[in-house]
Amino acid sequence: MASSLPIFISPAALARLGHPDGEMNLVRAAGKAKILQGISNNASCSIAEIMSVKQPEQHLIFQLYMNKDRIAAEKLIRRLQSDGFSAIMLTVDAAMPGKRELDQRTKGHWEGPAANGKVGSEEKGIAHAMGGYQDPDVCWDDIPWIKSLTELPLIIKGIQCIEDAERALEMYKVDGIVLSNHGGRELDYAPAPMTVLYEMRQTRPDLLDKHHVFIDGGVTRGTDVLKALCLGARAVGLGRAFLYANGVWGEEGCTRVVEIIREEIVLDMQLLGVTGLDQLTPERVKYVERSRSRL
Ligand SMILES: Cc1cc2nc3c(=O)[nH]c(=O)nc-3n(C[C@H](O)[C@H](O)[C@H](O)COP(=O)(O)O)c2cc1C
Repeated sequence: MASSLPIFISPAALARLGHPDGEMNLVRAAGKAKILQGISNNASCSIAEIMSVKQPEQHLIFQLYMNKDRIAAEKLIRRLQSDGFSAIMLTVDAAMPGKRELDQRTKGHWEGPAANGKVGSEEKGIAHAMGGYQDPDVCWDDIPWIKSLTELPLIIKGIQCIEDAERALEMYKVDGIVLSNHGGRELDYAPAPMTVLYEMRQTRPDLLDKHHVFIDGGVTRGTDVLKALCLGARAVGLGRAFLYANGVWGEEGCTRVVEIIREEIVLDMQLLGVTGLDQLTPERVKYVERSRSRL
């Protein structure tokens, strides 16, 4: 899937909390900028709304949470290709919602987009209410099952160690992985994806050469993108940057995020003295251990 820049929009739930047009703003901006986007299983816009603003040649990736109702899961997986999606991204780092105190204090009877009209009787924070359909027992064996239901490429999002990367890419032969800790919203002390990427470069550089390894989390500057590319990531996702932009300026804000990152990537490459992405090599970055006193 071609992209005009080595960045993509990471999937994020409920973009309508930020703007009435929700995910449609992000899809329009991604289409105009010709970059890839993940659409959350918990998107607030319907698939029909999302597809109504997608450009014909634009690629959208459906981010899947495994539903414990396997019949509903199968139905969804089977229809994604004809709905117009180009790939599936199975998120595996959030089978249970993390401990998000602010969210948990926002108690209410919420109905998530994937709830099919089922509102629980118990008051919960949004993440717990919305994720109630998810299967906490999602496991490796689900990969061949998903593959048996669709011809779409399968990417696993939320890989946080080299062993799992090896298993996903070599044993289960998925089409790509995203090194991610869900933007630090799930397990406290989960390693930064950039650290895992660095470890992969040290221990299994062949994985990076042979496979599609992506990364997201904490990316706010062009230099963050370049560091990941130097270490061997194929592309870098941004979540919050687009959510903030959508909340304040809608589609225009999302377009501006791409422009700023594009300007920074180009300028930073000029300052590094490189003329192509292929010249972004591991020697250009140095890993500096965080001082223990700053932890
Ligand atoms: C508000 C919010 C909602 C999110 N919802 C999802 C989601 O539905 N599915 C998913 O796979 N990741 C979700 N994520 C995680 C993002 O895909 C991504 O991993 C993370 O935002 C990257 O970090 P960054 O925000 O620092 O760029 C969400 C993140 C945020 C901030």
